[in-house]
Amino acid sequence: MLTHLRCWRCRRTYPWRRLINLCDCGMPLRAEFELDPQTLPKEALRDREPTLWRYKEVLPPVPPVSLGEGMTPLLPAPRLGRRWYVKDEAQNPTGSFKSRGMTTAVAVALHLGADVLAAPSQGNAAGALAAYAARAGLPTHVFMPTDTPQPCIQECEQYGADVTLVDGLIGDCAAEMRRRMNEKPGPGAWFDLSTLKEPYRVEGKKTMGYELAEQMDWHLPDVIIYPTGGGTGLIGMWKAFKEMKSLGWIGDERPKMVAVQAQNCAPIVRAFEAGAEFAEEFPNPETIAAGLRVPSAIGDFIMLQVLRESKGTAVAVSDDELLACSIEMTRTTGVHACPEGGATLAAARRLRECDFIKDSDTVVLFNTASGLKYLDVLSETGARQHA
Ligand SMILES: Cc1ncc(COP(=O)(O)O)c(C=O)c1O
Ligand SMILES: [Zn+2]
Repeated sequence: MLTHLRCWRCRRTYPWRRLINLCDCGMPLRAEFELDPQTLPKEALRDREPTLWRYKEVLPPVPPVSLGEGMTPLLPAPRLGRRWYVKDEAQNPTGSFKSRGMTTAVAVALHLGADVLAAPSQGNAAGALAAYAARAGLPTHVFMPTDTPQPCIQECEQYGADVTLVDGLIGDCAAEMRRRMNEKPGPGAWFDLSTLKEPYRVEGKKTMGYELAEQMDWHLPDVIIYPTGGGTGLIGMWKAFKEMKSLGWIGDERPKMVAVQAQNCAPIVRAFEAGAEFAEEFPNPETIAAGLRVPSAIGDFIMLQVLRESKGTAVAVSDDELLACSIEMTRTTGVHACPEGGATLAAARRLRECDFIKDSDTVVLFNTASGLKYLDVLSETGARQHA
């Protein structure tokens, strides 16, 4: 049962039944649950619907705003590695794992009385927000960089969102959103659903961890490789593993969590290597993988804690490597990989070479979105490889 919210940093607590963004100290809030083995015996899952709302006892207790998200396939990828798998998040309703965070965040916002929703995004989060806002019947404003993949921009428009393109990075989009929000205090005010600036996108994302355990018969993999921007997936899965231990579903075993970033936008990799608690903003960020173009993240210290606690690591790969690997993943698994998904394969290769990944390890690569959203970028790479 959800009991309250707690600051990830200063541990101050807040009631959950009112709309809230950050702690007074400016840091993200975490949803806290009272859990024990009676809360949800895992046998109860057997007859439940194949969406992430099957885990409703560990999600916010509000009516779902659902499009059938979650329970994505975990596909063996024997042509890549002996016990390697791809978790194909492209099969979510908006073609990316961002559906997971938005189904829960929009459901709570609607339940607690938000009138209008807003978020800055690299593309996929905006598409998901636009879809779930349409489902909820709430107006929404999304802010994206002008170089966001066209399909992401177009889907937002088609779902009926108000789209603003900003000539800059995601931080500039957030600044423009805040400027416009401040013009609208009082009734009709916009509720900010930016990554980790409200507590419930992480709750939806954590279900990737629950699903992995359920799909692997309650054993977790040895290594999880995840393309990291704002970090909600990484943070959410680690939270899920702790919760599943309280539920009596798993023991103390934990996967090594690996964050993959692009070489020219790798704030978490740099901070991890430096042993730092927080990440410095990455100067002049540049990568073809839009989801990884995140030079600074409010949840940096939480991601770094997860990587260290799990005995994981952080890897930077070049755009050439991640593009080549996304085509390779597509051709060897049948999963239409996005560039960010390709980055996980590039990192896995690197980690296998240095023996961080052993031959006997079970490894899960996350394909976080569909290649269909990146046709321009991928078709050039595919053609080049074919020539
Ligand atoms: C396809 C894709 N992969 C990965 C990411 C990074 O995800 P997170 O913010 O959970 O770290 C994004 C974020 O926009 C994305 O769109
Ligand atoms: Zn705080």
